[in-house]
Formats: sequence, C-alpha cells, structure tokens
Amino acid sequence: MEKIIDENIQGQALSLDKKEGNTRKLFIESYGCQMNFSDSEIVASILAKEGFNTTQNLEDADLVLVNTCSIREKAELTVRKRLEKYNAVKRINPKMKVGVLGCMAERLKSKFLEEEKIVDLVVGPDAYKDLPNLIEEVDAGRNAVNVILSKEETYGDISPVRLQSNGVSAFVSITRGCDNMCTFCVVPFTRGRERSRDPQSIMEEIDDLASKSFKEITLLGQNVDSYLWYGGGLKKDFEKASEFQKATAVNFAKLLDMVAEKYPKIRLRFTTSNPQDMTLDVIEVMAKHKNICKYIHLPIQSGSDRILKEMNRLHTREEYFELIDNIKKLIPDCAISQDIITGFPTETEEDHQDTLSLMEYVKYEYGFMFAYSERPGTLAARKLEDDVPEATKKRRLNEIITAQRNHSTYRHEAFIGKTVEILIEKESKKSDAHWSGRNTQNIVAVFPKGDYKIGDFVMVRIDECTSATLLGEAIGYSDNN
Ligand code: 5AD
Ligand code: SF4
Repeated sequence: MEKIIDENIQGQALSLDKKEGNTRKLFIESYGCQMNFSDSEIVASILAKEGFNTTQNLEDADLVLVNTCSIREKAELTVRKRLEKYNAVKRINPKMKVGVLGCMAERLKSKFLEEEKIVDLVVGPDAYKDLPNLIEEVDAGRNAVNVILSKEETYGDISPVRLQSNGVSAFVSITRGCDNMCTFCVVPFTRGRERSRDPQSIMEEIDDLASKSFKEITLLGQNVDSYLWYGGGLKKDFEKASEFQKATAVNFAKLLDMVAEKYPKIRLRFTTSNPQDMTLDVIEVMAKHKNICKYIHLPIQSGSDRILKEMNRLHTREEYFELIDNIKKLIPDCAISQDIITGFPTETEEDHQDTLSLMEYVKYEYGFMFAYSERPGTLAARKLEDDVPEATKKRRLNEIITAQRNHSTYRHEAFIGKTVEILIEKESKKSDAHWSGRNTQNIVAVFPKGDYKIGDFVMVRIDECTSATLLGEAIGYSDNN
C-alpha cells in the first residue's frame, strides 16, 4: 500500500456529529494509511444508522473498534498494545464490546479470537456493510467474524461522513485493493483485488464536498493510476468488455480531467502512484490544469535493478528515470516524493549504493523510508531469507534518511525569495500565532496569522526554510479565493 502513513494522526479517535435518538456509544480509532481513516468514516456512517453515536472517551464506549494496519510488524505491535489498554477498560466496564477491523483482521481472521481473548468481533476491509448483522451476533453473546474479500465492493453508495474535518481538505477514495503483488507487501492479501469506483458516485461525493466549501480534495487509492471504470468488473477482465464499454471507459487521466474541469477552484491531489502504472496522459492532464497540484508520490522502494526484480516491481531503474525526466519536462516545478525500503533480502552494499545514487539523481522533495519487515504469507517471506542483519538495515536506513534530509533542504532552499500560494489548513503545531498550510508541491509553509483564516488561499513570500518546512510572510490573498 503505497500510502503515506501520517505519524501525527495514528490512533486518532473519530468523532462525528451526534444523531438524535442514538443511544449507544462507539469509540473508533484508526492506524495505518489514509485508506483506513477513510474506511473508518464509512464504518461510523453505517453504525450511525444502527443507533451509535461516536465518543472520544474510551471509558464511555459500548463498542470499541480499532481499524488496523499490517504493513510492518511494528504497526501490528502497536495494535496489540492498544488491545491491552482496552482490556484494562473492559475490567471496569465488562459490557463493552471490542472489534478489530482492517488489514490485521483480514490477515489473522478468526485466529484473533483465539489469540486475543478480549476481541468479540473481527471484520475485514470489504465486509463493513455486514456490521449491523455482526453486531447483532455480538449483542446475543456470540463472537462474530466476516473477512470475506469482494471483487466489487467500493462503498460507493455509502454517503460518507467527515470526521474532525478542518472543512478544508478531504479524501475521496477511487480504487480499492491492489493487484501488483510486490513481493514484500501484505496489501494484496489484506485488501484484495483491485477495483474501481463508479465515476458518477465519485462526482456526487465531490459535488457534496464542493457544496460544503471544501478547498482541496485528494483522490485516494492503493494504485490510482490503475483506475479503470467500464461499468464495473476487474481491470484484468477489461479485454472481455463490449465495444460500447470500451468506448465509454474512464481511466485515471480522464477521471482527473473531468474533476479538474468541473471544479476549477478546488485543489486536486491524488495518491498513490505506481511507476509501472503511471502513464504520460496523466502527467499531461496535470500540466493542463492549474488546480491539479504539482506533486506526485512515486515510490521507488530500491534503486537497484536486481532488487527491483526481486521485489516484483515491474520496471527498471532506467524506466523510472525516464518517467522522472518526462514529468520534469512537462511540469518543470513538479515535486516528487518516495517510499524506500532498506535491507530487503539479499540487498548488498552495492544495491544500497544504487539506491543512494538514484536519490541523488531525483533529489526528492520528501520521502518515507523503512527498514524491511518480513510479512508472513508474502512471496518474499516464502522464498527469501530475511538475511540482512538488523544493524545493517538500520545503518542503511540512516544513510538514506540523511541523504533525503539534504535533498529536502536543497529543494526547499530554491523557494527562498519566491512567493507561493498556500492553502491555510490549521494552526502551526509550534505556535498559535502562526498558520500552517501547503503549497502546490505539498511542502508545508508556516507564517504569521495576520487577518487570514483557515481555508483562505494566500500568497506567502518565503524567507527561510528547514528540511521540513518553509517559513515566510503572507503578502495578500491569491486569486483563487
Ligand atoms: N517492510 C517495510 N516496508 C514496507 N512497505 C510495504 N511493505 C513493507 C515491508 N514488508 C512500505 C513500502 C510501501 C509503504 C507504504 O510501506 O515502501 O510503499
Ligand atoms: Fe503498493 Fe506494491 Fe503493496 Fe500494491 S503490492 S500496495 S503497489 S507496495
């Protein structure tokens, strides 16, 4: 799942407007990628119809749900720790029920009930519509499990509810699952086959956000470039579609074009892209529309051709460079970020140097870097020994992080003296006298509040920077307000 895991929001409990007449209390918290946070909104909206209002207070809850992540072992350990905490609360409130949702539920299935005695309910990512029945089972004193993966489910018909929203930026999911089968990755097993959501329901959701004055929308999927709608069905079956279906099909470039055209004042972002699936027409659409942000999250995982092959990434280092060159040719100021894994099985010092030299070529604006964590059931776990010593993984990871920090500083310094458009999202974490927002390249800028407010597009002159942030001063509104 090439999705940004935002450390700041891990474990955040979701809180929604109270629905009149609802008497039961739901505490729902999420770990992992943005897709999980989005899914929790779907779950809360399904349960609002079942008499549940959300609470931020664990001790008050009748039902506790935790939406889980399996991407690395550490993510799973965090959830196990939370279960210990729920257990302590359950001793005070024995009627409280506990459910596990998401990737860990899918991976461990009913084993969860044996391993963690306090768990009453286990629900995989495609089974949330079954929650009302499952909760009935739990109410009757029985454990309940549904981990069936679907080829169709996109939750397109569930009208989403926005959680703790700043009213400015929102995520809209467009695909679910992943068919790429990177050998290190558990996502194809936990989130199932790749499927695309009906563009009409995507447009309806965006219409609703636009009517509520949202200013920025991120189209979300494990692999957005792979989006393809031809009336339903898996991408691999597209060949068998009718001539009419083929002629009226919507791919990612077309979807992006449609949304950008209809909402010229809304900033559009998307995540995540996959090098082997990203096509030139997407970059052309980005270049054509001012409101599509000039930023692509484009994971590489490794700079070594041999390791890329072992990872089943279906492109070479050269092809990746070609893609980067094409992006920069069509959109010279486009920012690019990466995901990199260090210490994949058999990785040598030479492979590691290849990763460092690739980074030197691209000079990413930003990056998400991880030490390899073997995931049970993946092809890498079955075929390759996790043979890079932990200390070597860590050392290589540190070298990569240092390189990235230098590249981020280099990219950020290029903004000094320039004036950029920032969408104000929130108060700066470090100072209540400053706003924080992002420019089109997705770089965070912080500046004194002045008379501006959250949701304003402002022009900010950049005076200084760190490896993480631009610092400056607002000089007026942008023409996008
Ligand atoms: N070990 C370490 N990192 C992983 N990722 C995915 N699977 C693993 C794993 N087994 C990283 C990849 C992916 C990001 C979301 O998490 O870099 O792009
Ligand atoms: Fe991303 Fe590969 Fe995992 Fe798919 S299999 S979610 S492309 S890392």
